[in-house]
Amino acid sequence: MVGLIQKLLMDLIEESAGAEASAEVKRRADVPADRVFRMDEFYDDEEWRRLFAATCEVLNITPEQAEEAFADFFFKDSQRRWPMWFKMSKNAREFLIRQPAIHNGFATGVRDAEARQAITDKFEVKENGQDLVVHYRSPNKLCGLYMKLAERTINLYGDNATVHEKRCSKNGDAECEIHVQWA
Ligand code: HEM
Repeated sequence: MVGLIQKLLMDLIEESAGAEASAEVKRRADVPADRVFRMDEFYDDEEWRRLFAATCEVLNITPEQAEEAFADFFFKDSQRRWPMWFKMSKNAREFLIRQPAIHNGFATGVRDAEARQAITDKFEVKENGQDLVVHYRSPNKLCGLYMKLAERTINLYGDNATVHEKRCSKNGDAECEIHVQWA
């Protein structure tokens, strides 16, 4: 996973619980204490899962609460850091169709072909009439985060749409299938 996500998770922990908490999360996740995550570098997906689990332990929150807090933090940061992506889309539908391409853009800087593919394999968005069907396959199982970010995107543009998951890898399905339906 590209380090933007780990960097923002560590920033969130530090802002909300202080430097000691972020050091403890690194310790429990077996990440070197002096590691500074770079947003243009690739890190192991398994290490991310350890970081996320350690965050829940240290902050004493559920994975669902961690996803909620991270979605807020990440979405605000994305609007500040990448305003062009938001300006380019005139509504949430356009943005959500573009989302896999935004993500895959981060893979182009990754030298290792397998690592590159691990990023580009994660998302596929198909149009179904006016609705969207998102196919998400990732060992990180962050479909909850996807849905929270999709809802924030819908609210940002003022679209009238709902998000629900039809199939989920956490229930043994081969992938998560998320539907975004416009009224
Ligand atoms: C300008 C806006 C955004 C940027 C720059 C961005 C960038 C990224 C990057 C670099 C990653 C790591 C990808 C990897 O290495 O595998 C990521 C992960 C993720 N993003 Fe975004 N993202 C944006 C918006 C969104 C939105 C709107 C959604 C959902 C609707 C979303 C859903 C996710 C999810 C679920 C992951 C975790 C993927 C996984 O590892 O399983 N992102 N994002």
